[in-house]
Amino acid sequence: MVCHKQPVFMTRFCKFLHRRNVDIVEKWGFCYTRQWATSPQREATIWKDSFMTVVAKPGVRPANPHFSSGPCAKRPGWSLKNLEHAFLGRSHRAKDGKARLKLVIDKTKALLGVPDGYVCGIMPGSDTGAFEAAMWSLLGARALDILAWESFGSGWVSDVVKQLQLDDVRKIEADYGHLPDLAEVDFSRDVVFTANGTTSGVKIPNYDWIAADREGLTLVDATSAVFAQPVDWAKVDCLTFSWQKVMGGEAAHGMIILSPRAIERLVSYTPPWPLPKIFRLTKGGTLITGIFIGETINTPSMLAVEDYLDTLLWAENIGGLSALQGRADANAKVLNIWVDRTALVANLAV
Ligand SMILES: Cc1ncc(COP(=O)(O)O)c(C=O)c1O
Repeated sequence: MVCHKQPVFMTRFCKFLHRRNVDIVEKWGFCYTRQWATSPQREATIWKDSFMTVVAKPGVRPANPHFSSGPCAKRPGWSLKNLEHAFLGRSHRAKDGKARLKLVIDKTKALLGVPDGYVCGIMPGSDTGAFEAAMWSLLGARALDILAWESFGSGWVSDVVKQLQLDDVRKIEADYGHLPDLAEVDFSRDVVFTANGTTSGVKIPNYDWIAADREGLTLVDATSAVFAQPVDWAKVDCLTFSWQKVMGGEAAHGMIILSPRAIERLVSYTPPWPLPKIFRLTKGGTLITGIFIGETINTPSMLAVEDYLDTLLWAENIGGLSALQGRADANAKVLNIWVDRTALVANLAV
């Protein structure tokens, strides 16, 4: 950021600047403009108030300047040309369309090492759609412990409390940068948590804190974790994610993975609230098995499907899950080295 030394003439001018994320501050008798270093979204309000006037251009720059925690950068070598074989302009319920959708499910399960007996389906509404479908379909049978330490986790808390209005909910929360005390969780209850809190960068250390002999179910929003960090499937009953996240796919579709215990809950319990069609995973007390072999609830974008398949193929070719996790760790290392040697920045996660 560069701050310009300049006099202040008019309040109108100040307002004009403010609308453009620029503000005027006074220090040591001078007035300066300062600019948002990070756009003020998702609670990431940071003023980088500095009086540096010279910023050296870095000698080495990223090959791909796109940086985001979702939608994420496309894979190296990605091109629209790779989507030329997309199954477009025809019904996704035709034989070949269904085959592409089933391939998505099969490849996802294989790449993530999803155990036998678990099912995996494509859901409408990205990760939000998949996780809401899970909460609306599974919760209410037991008391709930729900964990939150940033905005997405807090969003799930708010839905459980205000929309589902569950009777017995314990909120286990922590401020930005911190994890709540995981030892407080009672696994005789259902447990909802976000594996990696995108907006604070704080993730669970592992799945060891989850009881192997739990009575309740664990519901995990893993959209910023899966593919990049290990998942202990024995500790997970329902896990969701979206294609736009760590795999750099397109938005619109989410995926849900259910353990045998979650399936058992689905078929033995009917929630007391009405379920919109796009959340429905059962019909007449039985699992809608079609969802887990590519018969999506509603119409998917086959272009987005092809794009996700492209990333799955790329992941297989670079060495599978361990290579993906290795890339995430190597990138984190580069960032941490830069943080350590840069006085102006620090990790929010403590
Ligand atoms: C942890 C977490 N949960 C949920 C979401 C919502 O994902 P989507 O927009 O794919 O529904 C996000 C998106 O950034 C996220 O980071």
